[in-house]
Amino acid sequence: MENTLDMEHVHPLKLFDVARKERRFLYASAPMVRYSKLAFRQTVFAYGTDLCWTPMILAKEFNRNRFARDSDFTISTNGPQPPTIVQFGANVPQELARASSLVAPFCSGIDLNCGCPQSWACAESLGAALMEKRELVRDMVVETREQLRQDGWAVEKEKDMDSPRGRSLSVKIRVHKDLRKTIDFITTVLGPEANRHIDFLTIHPRTRSTPSSTPINLEALEILTSTFGDRVPILVSGDVFALNALPFTSPLLNTPTPTNTNSNPVSTATAASTTSSSPSNPLVKPNLPKLSGLMSARAILANPALYAGHETCPWEAVETFLNKVVRSPLPFKLVLHHLSEMCAPGMSPFNKSALLTKQERAAMLACSNMVDLIDFLDEKRGRGGGLGLRRDRG
Ligand SMILES: Cc1cc2nc3c(=O)[nH]c(=O)nc-3n(C[C@H](O)[C@H](O)[C@H](O)COP(=O)(O)O)c2cc1C
Repeated sequence: MENTLDMEHVHPLKLFDVARKERRFLYASAPMVRYSKLAFRQTVFAYGTDLCWTPMILAKEFNRNRFARDSDFTISTNGPQPPTIVQFGANVPQELARASSLVAPFCSGIDLNCGCPQSWACAESLGAALMEKRELVRDMVVETREQLRQDGWAVEKEKDMDSPRGRSLSVKIRVHKDLRKTIDFITTVLGPEANRHIDFLTIHPRTRSTPSSTPINLEALEILTSTFGDRVPILVSGDVFALNALPFTSPLLNTPTPTNTNSNPVSTATAASTTSSSPSNPLVKPNLPKLSGLMSARAILANPALYAGHETCPWEAVETFLNKVVRSPLPFKLVLHHLSEMCAPGMSPFNKSALLTKQERAAMLACSNMVDLIDFLDEKRGRGGGLGLRRDRG
């Protein structure tokens, strides 16, 4: 991507447009409760991710409690602020509108979570429970767009994609067992043909009760992208494990890498021709010409350099992450969690190598502070010249 874009305020639809012109997918890192915080977002951004989601934030708490705001949403005032989508959990139009109004100056867009399957969320009519309340979801996005418009943000979708005040509004959904219900849901939430209510849509093609170990429903994804992909840019969330191991093909898979990274990519060209399973023919991957972007959660957690084409996490990504953590701190236990993901075998089916052995990871988890942790990793990486983070012993 050219560096002429003001990344901090770039409109997400502009990023879709740039990716399409580069004949590649838009690359997104998923909302992940606990994990997708600033230091992690900055790390994946350094490795070619276009758009970074925050974890889901509960709009009601965010609106009412200053401490919730301070702890749930951190931005960078000094250093790269990746294009950021703030995801809210909400079930009342005014709550979503108000919370969106508060974050709009500091992000590129707002997303509504209609996919969280956890029982506490569904019991409160949040997350996946909203998949049964399509009119409410429509009312939430309509009211929020109106609020943002009144606040002076440019919310006319493609018309405003070059405006520094452009902001997007999107939803992230799961699918129903009966796909007709999902089609009805999307039809309602999209609204009028000429003036849709959302800028883009993320589909996680699993139902609320499908375990994440079950492959995504490719048939559902194929039907939904071919039905709606001309009306709205669609991202897929689920099983984006490595660029050369996607369970579908696309004309957007023929160029190997984004240009905003200096990493060492593997070619994705092979992905279009490799075979794997699909519901209709177990040997042929479905082709999804109307799919616009990829969103990764578990795989990018293990390998933040995924979109730069790395099959496994490189030491450089560990170093980048630790450098970001030093400037945008995370609780120490969370840092350890991240590192144990990054140093373990990742999600690529073709490459299960790891930066540390199981015993070494256990030893890493025994570190009790940042200084010991950095020394430990420096020593393990010693063969490659250290992490560049060794403290000054002078
Ligand atoms: C640790 C973790 C936390 C998650 N938190 C959220 C969240 O806050 N909001 C959301 O919409 N989805 C959340 N998800 C779901 C992911 O965004 C994604 O849809 C799902 O994991 C499937 O993608 P994957 O196969 O790439 O993991 C979470 C997933 C994980 C693993």
